[in-house]
Amino acid sequence: MNQEIKAFIFDLDGVITDTARYHYKAWRRMANELGFDFTEEENEQLKGVSRAESLEKILQWGGITVSPEDKIRLAEKKNQWYLEYIQDITPGDLLPGARDFLLATREADIRTALGSASKNAIPIVEKLGVRHLFDVLIDGNAAPKSKPDPQVFLLGAAQLKVRPEQCVVFEDSLAGIQAAKNANMHTVGIGYMLPKDVGDFHAGSLEFLTPSIVITEVLKHS
Ligand code: BG6
Ligand code: MG
Repeated sequence: MNQEIKAFIFDLDGVITDTARYHYKAWRRMANELGFDFTEEENEQLKGVSRAESLEKILQWGGITVSPEDKIRLAEKKNQWYLEYIQDITPGDLLPGARDFLLATREADIRTALGSASKNAIPIVEKLGVRHLFDVLIDGNAAPKSKPDPQVFLLGAAQLKVRPEQCVVFEDSLAGIQAAKNANMHTVGIGYMLPKDVGDFHAGSLEFLTPSIVITEVLKHS
């Protein structure tokens, strides 16, 4: 891999803010209405995965078959609940260290992108007051192929005008780490639910990281 790191690409849900728990809450409410439940461990398989693919997995867990029209209705219902849960989020809902790390990244002349599977990502970064800290924003509308497909990160790199091997991706999901690897990018696993050995480097949050620590650690693995 090229040793020069030029860009950091951030997942949103679970890396910049804790919206992952609201996705789980809304999907669980839907499953409960359909008469079954699923665990936090099973929920890990939904992180980074698009709304439509998440619904497919959940229906499979519940052993439920529904019509294509009902799938659309169920996905819309889940999204309405999710939007209710997140309607009052503010900059106070940024995860510890997220804002400072984004600022330090820009200070270090490293370009920044958001790479999220969520179609709600852009209004969320606006509510969090950090939209201006990203040079490029790629959401689930711009990149319809669900992680682990590398589309979202490759589009981010292309719009930042950097090569994939010059990017570090920050991700809290297995599907997202795999997507970044499929894109030939460096990876930092974030959060306590993700196994520590899946990325090039792992941290509980962005709180105690600096751009230079990240670059040193990921390059040890290249
Ligand atoms: C990802 C989340 O960021 O976005 C997934 O990790 C979610 O849990 C996916 O399903 C799609 O989100 P949305 O907001 O488009 O339903
Ligand atoms: Mg995530």
